[in-house]
Amino acid sequence: MANNTAQATQQPAKHFNLVRCVATCLLALIVLVGLAALINWLVIRPKRFVYTLENGSVQNFNLTDNHLNATFDFVLGAYNPSSKISVYYDHIEFTVTYEDQTLAFNTIDPFFQPHRNVTRVESKLEALNLALSPSTFKDLTIEKSSGEIDVDVHLMSRIRFKVGTWKSNHHTLRIVCSSVTLHFSWYKHFEKKPCEVEL
Ligand SMILES: *[C@@H]1O[C@H](CO)[C@@H](O)[C@H](O)[C@H]1NC(C)=O
Ligand SMILES: *[C@@H]1O[C@H](CO)[C@@H](O)[C@H](O)[C@H]1NC(C)=O
Ligand SMILES: *[C@@H]1O[C@H](CO)[C@@H](O)[C@H](O)[C@H]1NC(C)=O
Ligand SMILES: *[C@@H]1O[C@H](CO)[C@@H](O)[C@H](O)[C@H]1NC(C)=O
Repeated sequence: MANNTAQATQQPAKHFNLVRCVATCLLALIVLVGLAALINWLVIRPKRFVYTLENGSVQNFNLTDNHLNATFDFVLGAYNPSSKISVYYDHIEFTVTYEDQTLAFNTIDPFFQPHRNVTRVESKLEALNLALSPSTFKDLTIEKSSGEIDVDVHLMSRIRFKVGTWKSNHHTLRIVCSSVTLHFSWYKHFEKKPCEVEL
């Protein structure tokens, strides 16, 4: 008799547990789907961030015996059009390349960019007695004699997004500004160059 009552109370308990489990699973699923949508939104939206190379110049340029000395100055305009997302930029690495050969690189300090903000990031990159491949040396010498050179500027940063008090994981941000023309004559002005973003 005692056994029977125990079974009778156990049965509804089991049933209740099942309902609770299904409800919990459903809730977890909804939360997961919501989270996936949020992450998607965060990853897609920041692609609208706009990066422009606003100024670039080269000084102390000297090509001798397959070696290069040069000082590059770049100003990157970073525009965050979002009204909700702010961005933490860890060390941004600037690299200037010519025909896929790295000429110089430098890193700038981390900074925080609020929403709806334009930040100008400046960097000075130096090539000090850099050994060039013979073909790169030859092409660079020819281009230099024309009064301008075309380089590529690559930027790499680890970023985190902030929405309200929530902060995302790190994402790798790659920015490429291709065919950036640097003039050797002082009277020629730098032409702003839009850059491409990879997240
Ligand atoms: C670009 O940089 C050069 C060299 O630093 C400077 O003389 C020039 O005024 C700058 N141009 C702009 C638009 O900031
Ligand atoms: C370039 O560097 C070489 C070797 O250091 C030097 O002899 C030459 O005078 C330099 N040329 C210029 C234009 O500064
Ligand atoms: C670059 O500068 C260094 C130090 O000032 C000098 O020793 C070297 O000869 C220079 N190289 C070129 C290619 O100008
Ligand atoms: C963008 O944010 C930086 C850093 O907080 C600030 O110094 C700068 O004035 C802001 N620029 C604009 C246009 O709001």
